[in-house]
Amino acid sequence: MINIALPKGRLGEKAYGIFEQAGFECPSIHEESRKLIFENAEKGVRYFWVKPSDVVIYVERGAADIGIAGKDIILEYQPDIYELADLGIGKCRMAVAAKKDFVDRRDRTLRVATKFPNIAKSYYASLSREIDIIKLNGSIELAPILGLSDVIVDIVETGKTLLENDLEPKSDIVPISARLVSNKVSYKFKNERIRGICEQINEVLKARA
Ligand code: PRP
Repeated sequence: MINIALPKGRLGEKAYGIFEQAGFECPSIHEESRKLIFENAEKGVRYFWVKPSDVVIYVERGAADIGIAGKDIILEYQPDIYELADLGIGKCRMAVAAKKDFVDRRDRTLRVATKFPNIAKSYYASLSREIDIIKLNGSIELAPILGLSDVIVDIVETGKTLLENDLEPKSDIVPISARLVSNKVSYKFKNERIRGICEQINEVLKARA
């Protein structure tokens, strides 16, 4: 059995669609329920829905053999796992944003609000810019509006949230998309199966491109 951690939500459903098309369907997953685990014994796959940021924890510790995680989560938590494929879905970018009239005065410590403190720290370290991190858990866009921070480091997908809150992107940090990841021990001991799944998924991705 291959245990697969999927991120709960729209991205996870799209990702499951790729597995389904690749021949690893699990019809019971479509039934309306609050169940979190779904299995197709015949195909040897067991899926479970986890909080998107938890996928890498399940995979790193081997509770899942493989999973689907956003590159943002991988960069932030730096888990000890393998990245096997870029699914090309959940595309967005990590960016710095601020109020339209914001001008960075480099003589002051920059206050940065974010859900991604490690990504923000390494980005500003690469610019040798001194910052003060304000770690938030959501609605990051509020921080510069209320004067809690000067800028934010956050995910931008359509840019609508920034626009509707009178903020604008100031610089891009890194492009983001969903990745197929694997536990390192599983990759060694279930190598044939995991590589097989990966190959089938790559076929689906090629056909979709
Ligand atoms: C993400 C991100 C932005 C928004 C960007 O928020 O933090 O707020 O999506 O999308 P857009 O560019 O298409 O507007 P999410 O929905 O994950 O909620 P939260 O961060 O506020 O919890």
